[in-house]
Amino acid sequence: MTRKPAQAVAPSPSERRERPRINVVGTGYLGATHAAAMAEMGFEVIGVDSDPRKVDALSRGIVPFFEPGLPELIRKHVNSGRLSFTTDLAEATALSDVHFICVGTPQQSTSFAANLSFVEEATVQVARSLSHDGLIVGKSTVPVGTGARLRELIANEIPDEIRVELVWNPEFLREGKAVHDTLFPDRIVLGGTTPASEAMLRTVYSVPIEAGTPVLCCDLPTAELVKVSANAFLATKISFINAIAEVCEAAGADVSLLADALGYDARIGRQFLNAGLGFGGGCLPKDIRALMHRASELGAYSAANLLQQVDEINMAQRQRVIDQAIDICGGSVLNRRIAVLGAAFKPHTDDVRDSPALNVAAALHLRGAQVTVYDPQAAETARRDFPTLGYVDSIEEAAVAADAVLVLTEWDSFRDYDPTRLEGVVRSRRIIDARNCLDEAAWRAAGWHYRALGRTPQVAAIAGVPERYAAIAGDFALV
Ligand code: UGA
Repeated sequence: MTRKPAQAVAPSPSERRERPRINVVGTGYLGATHAAAMAEMGFEVIGVDSDPRKVDALSRGIVPFFEPGLPELIRKHVNSGRLSFTTDLAEATALSDVHFICVGTPQQSTSFAANLSFVEEATVQVARSLSHDGLIVGKSTVPVGTGARLRELIANEIPDEIRVELVWNPEFLREGKAVHDTLFPDRIVLGGTTPASEAMLRTVYSVPIEAGTPVLCCDLPTAELVKVSANAFLATKISFINAIAEVCEAAGADVSLLADALGYDARIGRQFLNAGLGFGGGCLPKDIRALMHRASELGAYSAANLLQQVDEINMAQRQRVIDQAIDICGGSVLNRRIAVLGAAFKPHTDDVRDSPALNVAAALHLRGAQVTVYDPQAAETARRDFPTLGYVDSIEEAAVAADAVLVLTEWDSFRDYDPTRLEGVVRSRRIIDARNCLDEAAWRAAGWHYRALGRTPQVAAIAGVPERYAAIAGDFALV
């Protein structure tokens, strides 16, 4: 085994305990943000990635994806000298005391299970490169049981004279709000710690802990499960409201008002009750599938069945929007021009992994529509995955001669858009608000036929409905 030399003047064990140096393996959304946040909290941090282009960009303060506030924070600490990036995992490990594993756990190509090869490789490499006592901290989202397996994997890799612990500390950051969520976490979960490793992590997280962030110490499997259960719950909440949206449509109710009313109940809460096109991205879909898979392996069939339903409801939302688009185009989209507003899986990101918006756009394209996409941030990433769709730089360009406009990601610039600006631009004023984010009255007042998920024209047939709904029903008669 080759070893890089440690620093010329190695810190004493007590210095290491008081001001541990941080190694962050993997510099995607999770790792790059975590590394920058650790530097902001006062630590010396090395970020490691196997991709030299990424390391080169980050070292120059350039973030290869869109995450608000992150480039500024990275530049600040690259310049302050507290944050550096390297491809040399062995050297970064030899220089550091706490080693965060932040690599991806994508869905396997042949099953719903998580691909753990990156986590295993990173952890084993860190273990092999240790030059002094340390702490390996898993942050990646993993199936329950992974930590225990990793402990076994590295047991024979660690030199006899070195003491190392492996614990789990899941991350709950949201893309688009990653910097805030990392600097101000709403909880810190520490799984499988001893008093020594707990003390070390309390030092690492002293800034948020002093600011009042609760710390929960638990066993390794509980910590692993907290993370996937949180994502599974959020996914379930979204699929719940989307299932209720279907009832609303059939019964003449309005799902947005219903969600507002539910949300006032503090036990329920309004967040993650936005009905529409459903969830996508690099986390919720693959995490519920990995949990489904793991729950089945463990014989926990109720959880597996529940999550199967959540997934099915979610995927059906995409089909519902495709069907609505075909419907408003008169039964076929062949040769129809469709303006798609939104490509990212949600606003404030350029991430298009499992994006519901692009899924719908691509399906309509395959049915013969001419699809033109506008997204304020995600055009480049979308083009890489779906090069056959058209991409433009503004809402107006997307809407030229459109037979239908589809709002598939709820960017603020779509939400706030004045529909009168499209007067004379589109061929037909028909819009599908697949995220329930537009000012319906404003679009109707501008002469648009407006459709959304979870609302229905029959509502006007119900006695005593407010005028607003009667207007909706009138317009639907024309569509
Ligand atoms: C999610 C979790 O929210 C984070 O806590 C977690 O740390 C992260 O996964 C992860 O595992 O790393 P993220 O993938 O960034 O974060 O996205 P969310 O904000 O959760 O949104 C997921 C999807 O749900 C989006 O497509 C969004 O449009 C959709 N959504 C969200 C709805 O359809 N309705 C809602 O009411 C809310």
